[in-house]
Amino acid sequence: MSQIFRKELNKAAAILKEGGTVIFPTETVYGLGARFDDDEALGKIFLAKGRPRDNPLILHIYKRDQLDEITEFVPPEAEVLIDKYWPGPLTMIFKKKSHISDIVSGGLDTVAVRMPSHPVALELLSLVDLPLAAPSANISGRPSPTSEDHLKEMEGRVDAIVLGGDCQVGLESTVIDLSRARPILLRPGRVSLEELEELLGPVDLYENKGEFASPGLKYKHYAPKTPLVLLEGSDEEILDFIKQNAENCVFIVKESILRACETQKCELFYPEGDLNYAAKEYFRLIRRLDSHNYDIIYITALPTEGLGRAIMDRVVRSSGGRTRRL
Ligand code: TXA
Ligand code: MG
Repeated sequence: MSQIFRKELNKAAAILKEGGTVIFPTETVYGLGARFDDDEALGKIFLAKGRPRDNPLILHIYKRDQLDEITEFVPPEAEVLIDKYWPGPLTMIFKKKSHISDIVSGGLDTVAVRMPSHPVALELLSLVDLPLAAPSANISGRPSPTSEDHLKEMEGRVDAIVLGGDCQVGLESTVIDLSRARPILLRPGRVSLEELEELLGPVDLYENKGEFASPGLKYKHYAPKTPLVLLEGSDEEILDFIKQNAENCVFIVKESILRACETQKCELFYPEGDLNYAAKEYFRLIRRLDSHNYDIIYITALPTEGLGRAIMDRVVRSSGGRTRRL
């Protein structure tokens, strides 16, 4: 780490300790941090994002000991997941200790915790030496920021920004609730349902648990300003639709369709079999296409196994449920 960068990080840590807000890179998406134990500092996060107050925040830690200061009880399943996935893109929900602010927990008796793996995030957390509450660093409802230029919308709304290039995972962390009798997957992410079930046995899905298992699920999410429509059909039907289409639109498609469609109106979703690419690029792609004044962005589905479940979750939310069946 260069001297200049170290100085910048020290400054960011000092701002956080004094109750300010700082945007910092994580391996998933950029986060907007504030110290966890200062309600005024936490209030600045909600103000900067325009975030509804009942949507709780994730606490970020850099060492295992910090977890015991936050949570009442760490169940054995959590220890298994911690061993395998921390630091990394997995958030777990625990029963909170009573000193954790209702602003962090959105008034619930639980708290979300994650240990990020990005070296800059870990360094900043260790300099502050306190858990940091940090949602994604976007205006509420917008796609999460995964590149430095996505942070422009937050300029003037926060006290400092630490840059770290492109986020490698590109989608927010997997969120699993371990505070109940059976684990529930609240948000799919890089750590997949299949991987979790291999370690824990059956994991319930939030879809089956009623809407409010996680407050964040009831809000509009990841929406570009241009209407985004999920296209459903066989490869052949999709190709025909693209060829005949005269709208002012763009199509996000897999590589084989991109090669076959012979038009400038297609954009690469992912090279065949490379879902990591789709995850890493998705928010970047929809933010970029959103700046082109298309009337519609069409996107094709991908298989919902493994990481595909997390990508399709964001796609469906971005679309607000708009689908066109061919
Ligand atoms: O990858 C990530 O998790 C990023 C980076 C910055 O770490 N953070 C992030 O935070 O995505 P945010 O606030 O955008 O999403 C947190 C999600 C929300 O859907 C929220 O409702 C849910 O986690 N959540 C937080 N605390 C919860 C709790 N106690 N019970 C249920 N859901 C909770
Ligand atoms: Mg968010």
